[in-house]
Amino acid sequence: TWSTENIIDREVARIREQVGEGRAICGLSGGVDSAVAAALVQQAIGDRLTCVLVDHGLMRQDEVEQVEQDFVAATGVNLHIAREADRFLGALSGVTDPETKRKIIGREFIRAFEAAEAQVLLEASSEGARVGYLVQGTLYPDIVESGGGEGASTIKSHHNVGGLPEDLEFELVEPLRELFKDEVREVGRQLGLPETIVGRQPFPGPGLGIRIIGEVTEHRLDILRRADAIARAELTAAGLDDEVWQMPVVLLADVHSVGVQGDGRTYGHPIVLRPVSSEDAMTADWSRLPSELLARISNRITNEVEEINRVVLDVTSKPPGTIEWE
Ligand code: XMP
Repeated sequence: TWSTENIIDREVARIREQVGEGRAICGLSGGVDSAVAAALVQQAIGDRLTCVLVDHGLMRQDEVEQVEQDFVAATGVNLHIAREADRFLGALSGVTDPETKRKIIGREFIRAFEAAEAQVLLEASSEGARVGYLVQGTLYPDIVESGGGEGASTIKSHHNVGGLPEDLEFELVEPLRELFKDEVREVGRQLGLPETIVGRQPFPGPGLGIRIIGEVTEHRLDILRRADAIARAELTAAGLDDEVWQMPVVLLADVHSVGVQGDGRTYGHPIVLRPVSSEDAMTADWSRLPSELLARISNRITNEVEEINRVVLDVTSKPPGTIEWE
């Protein structure tokens, strides 16, 4: 079996061999995978790596600022932030089908990178020095679930594997493609990334775009962001971040239910809590969270997020449910 040091040595050598004297660009999503992939590539090719955070407008509350602060403080890496929320929201307008959403987000993500590449090169005033490599934090389970594994069928096209456009200008560098999540965390720790990044729960590339059931709009994103921030804060305060693999919060945006608040009738949206325990996300069980914690999350969300009048708990394992709702 491979020790963490072996994995790092092996991947650094592979990256050097693949990239040679080229330059690479790496998208940071705010999650563990992209951060560890970036740190590995930086180890291999130093400042020929530039990290780009595409702010697709589908991030959680304060997430962009956290990447800006935590990751840059830990690594000193060059970071370019591409503010592209309008591009993504425009492309997603009117779209409700989950696979269509994923494909659109994946496509726009690559387009945003191409724009960022030009921008990065311009800023470095090194015209002609093409950035030829795109680093992605694709894990082994992502590949299996996107139909890349032997005998596997496509369940969801993960945006960092499927849905890439054919006019792709980058060659992909995927240093985590043979690893599981726990190995990725160990590699990150070994590379000196802080616990605030390494211990972070997984978050999908398409972000909140696949946690709004129905069309993605700015208003709906705002509702979901506020509810999600409360749920995450309470989970952390209860000391359960390590025990719970992740807890997606899902907005049923096309569903309304009747409620009562004070003297008045309300007609708001339900929100779903989807806490799961898992080893590698390929299978999962719903987390038996303490009922006091669930009560606190429910009270706070319905009190503090006006548009939500009902909080629902998802008690489905994977299979048959997937972790995300879309
Ligand atoms: P599912 O919903 O398929 O999710 O049970 C399994 C794990 O993968 C995450 N996920 C994604 N991660 N890009 C990613 O990087 C994606 O498109 C994507 N879709 C789902 C999900 O959060 C869970 O951890």
